[in-house]
Amino acid sequence: MSARIIDGKAIAAQLRQDIKQRVDARLAAGRRAPGLAVVLVGHDPASEVYVAHKRKDCAEVGIHSIAHDLPAETSQAALLALIDELNANPAVDGILVQLPLPGHIDTDAVIERILPHKDVDGFHPYNLGRLAQRRPVLRPCTPRGVMIMLEKSGIALAGLDAVVIGASNIVGKPMALELLMAGCTVTVCHSRTRELEAKVRAADLVVVGVGRAEMVKGDWLKPGAVVIDVGINRLASGKLVGDVEFSSASAVAAWISPVPGGVGPMTRATLLQNTLDTSEDRG
Ligand code: GUN
Repeated sequence: MSARIIDGKAIAAQLRQDIKQRVDARLAAGRRAPGLAVVLVGHDPASEVYVAHKRKDCAEVGIHSIAHDLPAETSQAALLALIDELNANPAVDGILVQLPLPGHIDTDAVIERILPHKDVDGFHPYNLGRLAQRRPVLRPCTPRGVMIMLEKSGIALAGLDAVVIGASNIVGKPMALELLMAGCTVTVCHSRTRELEAKVRAADLVVVGVGRAEMVKGDWLKPGAVVIDVGINRLASGKLVGDVEFSSASAVAAWISPVPGGVGPMTRATLLQNTLDTSEDRG
């Protein structure tokens, strides 16, 4: 069997086009562009690249991005004061603080300071709690992006046995909540899980987000499974690979998302969608 590819790059491009049309319609109706404040503290090279992508994506769809690039030694008090200012600014619909933050800053305190309806990352405990209650408001971008990919690919989820590998607050936990909401029976696996391979082999749908290059092999999978790879790892050779060994997995799975060109573009497009959604809610 050769798996069908879930083309996140193409689905994300379509999503951006739809978002741009909705932003254009807002402007044509005399309303303001959605505004996204993107806050970067310090000079983490990966974060600088991610933030540059987010700003470019905003420009493409007509979302007004407001840059706040702060020095690495910015105090927690100064960062919280900036968030208070952005919370109070009516032209700012969404606030994104790029993670990781420098070690002297309490990340949880920063996330909790953002008004929940401006938390376009969906990381605030209010937003995670609402997702757990099946009444989501702003949903974390990567899991929401995965749900959009599955839907656009026409993959029916109700009743599937799903395994999520990775239990982070950003990916694994909200992913499990999304799949539960869609009617899957969900098992969340993590570094202490016993007999991981057997659990994966029993799954109709596997979502992997642990950051370990090519950890999941084709012979772990149930034939015909759907495989979503959230990992992005750079090998010593410079090649980018996911958490799934693509060559062996794609011979067994029915559907698979590639790396690059799978979940990554969807995460970026979903941030734009969240920003538009919250701006529409706010008028
Ligand atoms: N750092 C890595 N991924 C993310 C993300 O999705 N949002 C934010 N704010 N920081 C990140």
